[in-house]
Amino acid sequence: MIEFEVNGQAVTSESEADTPLLWVIRDELKLKGTKFGCGIAMCGACTVHIDGVATRSCVTNVGTVAGKSITTIEGLDSAEGNALKQAWVAEQVPQCGYCQSGQIMQAAGLLANTPSPTDQQITDAMNGNLCRCMSYTRIHKAIKTAAGGEEA
Ligand code: FES
Ligand code: FES
Repeated sequence: MIEFEVNGQAVTSESEADTPLLWVIRDELKLKGTKFGCGIAMCGACTVHIDGVATRSCVTNVGTVAGKSITTIEGLDSAEGNALKQAWVAEQVPQCGYCQSGQIMQAAGLLANTPSPTDQQITDAMNGNLCRCMSYTRIHKAIKTAAGGEEA
């Protein structure tokens, strides 16, 4: 049994230690906001925070998160997370929406450490989060809005 915390709640997983955290989040905990895209850390759709750090849950074994605190899109309630969610709506960012929870979790990780990022810092931080609908311009703009900076 592996014990950790998800969105402020203590949870116990009976999965094998090498089970991807993403499977546990979606299939055991039924939190479907975190998406499977590639399974090999190449798209960012599965991004969650582990002890506040944006992390690809598809390549994170659940055994490695024992005792840690995980936040998924459903539990994102930080000041920067809420600012991002508001900006995402204001800028009408999503198209199909599939990548967007991962995009927001990645952006929230950026703003937690860098509250006023430059355009280059945004580009660098978001570089590994892919969007098949090509919403990149709106994502960038929304992050700037959430950070209180000028629109891109
Ligand atoms: S599903 Fe994890 S990075 Fe693509
Ligand atoms: S909004 Fe469709 S993949 Fe990003």
